[in-house]
Amino acid sequence: MSSPLFEAAKKNASTAYKLDQGGQANQAVRYYVNAAEQLQQLINFTDDTSMKNLYYQKAMEYILRVKEIRGIAGSSESRSSSSTTASSKESEDEIESAISSVIVREKPNVKWEDVAGMENAKRALREAIILPMSRPDLFKGARKPWKGILMFGPPGCGKTYLCKAVASEVDSTFFSVSAANLISKWLGESEKLVKELYERAVEEAPSIIFFDEVDALAGARGGGSENEAMRRVKTQLLQAVEGFGTGEELLVTVGATNTPWDIDAAMRRRFERRVYITLPTKNAREKMFQIHTRGVPLDSNVNFIELSNYTAGYTAADIALLCREALMYPIRELDAEGALKNKDIQPRAPSFNDFLTSMESIKPSVSPKELTRYEEWKDQFGG
Ligand SMILES: Nc1ncnc2c1ncn2[C@@H]1O[C@H](COP(=O)(O)OP(=O)(O)OP(=O)(O)O)[C@@H](O)[C@H]1O
Ligand SMILES: [Mg+2]
Repeated sequence: MSSPLFEAAKKNASTAYKLDQGGQANQAVRYYVNAAEQLQQLINFTDDTSMKNLYYQKAMEYILRVKEIRGIAGSSESRSSSSTTASSKESEDEIESAISSVIVREKPNVKWEDVAGMENAKRALREAIILPMSRPDLFKGARKPWKGILMFGPPGCGKTYLCKAVASEVDSTFFSVSAANLISKWLGESEKLVKELYERAVEEAPSIIFFDEVDALAGARGGGSENEAMRRVKTQLLQAVEGFGTGEELLVTVGATNTPWDIDAAMRRRFERRVYITLPTKNAREKMFQIHTRGVPLDSNVNFIELSNYTAGYTAADIALLCREALMYPIRELDAEGALKNKDIQPRAPSFNDFLTSMESIKPSVSPKELTRYEEWKDQFGG
């Protein structure tokens, strides 16, 4: 199957590959990163497990290659930049602007009520973030708020979404960092970036630092062959999560991952509170259908309870996608008739049948086998 996103990823990958082969590895980085990001998005939109695996493998391959390129380029760059003040000033500015770019100043537009189900996860985040920030007086002495929280679980089940809801709920500075991005774009200097990020978070406390795809940074992989820059940034992150500043400031690191087994023991220990984010329950699914059809009047025959019965095994992302697709059918019909140009013609209301048709084409994206692996990790390490 070919989609615009897939085509874009393919194009980026082949450009990257050509540049890389032609000895222009540094120029290739941007294209590898784009390709990897697009493949990761594709994973969310594919129901075919073997395609998912293929996308994942390819994305990892590109990220690894970028790490390799950056590892070498990073150390030589830092050597040369320390010899000239002009370029070190330049890199200071770059770091400054990189940090500013991960601060989310606008409240994300996901409200706490927009989060269906996930009761355990919501409670954990309330205790860790919302309560300490609204009632700091209660969290003194031995009753300390959590400093590190790890959200883990299969793709598309709401880790990022829930974190956005938290950020919109509390008055804190919200830093949203993609670990894979940090590594690929900054490896040579990412140690410094992490340090300055946390210093900034202390200045602007209370702060939430959200590390998406934290496995890219905290991975156990690599072992002896892991390069020096990678090791340093990990060490820096370990220290930072444990405590920065006087320790009095409210600072919480929330990591999200869909490969928790890739996180090494030292990092795992820093994430003292672990929260398993998994497939939605039937009730949660029913509410998701409401949330993701809001603002569009539906035919009265649409029955959310029945739809929730039929969608066992679907992730939150699958349901969101299913809804978007179903809502599109009436528009598509009009478009096919060439009637969209006429503003007086309104599309019919989406019907129950539209949802059933959409369900035919959108299947659960996580297999029971994949799920077992998360369950096992949870049994071993908690959540
Ligand atoms: N609890 C929820 N209620 C309603 N919609 C949800 C919920 N959780 C997730 N969604 C929908 O599913 C989409 C995907 O969720 P999200 O991006 O948070 O998944 P994720 O767990 O971060 O996945 P990944 O591991 O791939 O990053 C969201 O954009 C949102 O539309
Ligand atoms: Mg996510």
